[in-house]
Amino acid sequence: MNSLLKISLSTLALSTLTFAQTTMCFKENHTNLMTLEKVALDGGECNSQYSLTDMKNSGWRVDDIKINNNNYIYILKKGTTSTAFVNTNTNISQEELEKRVLAKLEAKQAQEKKEKEIEEKIMKAQRGQELYENKCQSCHGKKGELEPGLSVAINTLSEEDILELMDGYKRGTYSKGNPYQMRAYATTTTEEDTINIFNYLQSLK
Ligand code: HEC
Repeated sequence: MNSLLKISLSTLALSTLTFAQTTMCFKENHTNLMTLEKVALDGGECNSQYSLTDMKNSGWRVDDIKINNNNYIYILKKGTTSTAFVNTNTNISQEELEKRVLAKLEAKQAQEKKEKEIEEKIMKAQRGQELYENKCQSCHGKKGELEPGLSVAINTLSEEDILELMDGYKRGTYSKGNPYQMRAYATTTTEEDTINIFNYLQSLK
């Protein structure tokens, strides 16, 4: 690579950095997932004034989310990196430019996929919260940590396990000695409900 090209590539990288903004917002001790997107978040550009919905409306997108008990940390990003490709610099070959644009597009798609997965997880957990509180919490505890009868703490089960066990109660093929109560709950709980409940329990960890 000749040195002129190197310089222009590093200018490109620099302008990419300036176009994308990042901020970190958080919410501590928030127990109701239903209102999570609407409460004002603390820190960063949210500044105890703006909710996740407000931030999204002004162009921010969720890059990452960390959930720990009832504490939520959002990494938000704004700005488009592709603006950097409005490039008047002729030192980069067309081919090189195309390669970079393509790489950016791929990164953007991967980013969008990640965001969608995060949002789906939150949506499942939201639906799971209501189900869990109404149908399971009285015996299995606030976080799935209790051990009714001979049951394990169900917050330790994998998605696969919990689906299989619920199915076993439904079919009458699984028992730890006293399956009758569970059979009643299992028959009124769909596989989708169980997946949502699983995601809710995971969100409490
Ligand atoms: C009325 C109390 C009660 C309710 C409500 C209840 N469970 Fe249970 N659960 C139990 C008992 C007791 C057992 C152990 C049953 C046995 O002996 O097999 C159990 C076992 C389980 C197991 C198997 C655990 C293991 O150790 O293999 C899973 C999974 C489970 N429950 C999930 C749920 C889910 C999900 C809900 C809500 C839809 C729910 N339970 C509602 C009492 C309850």
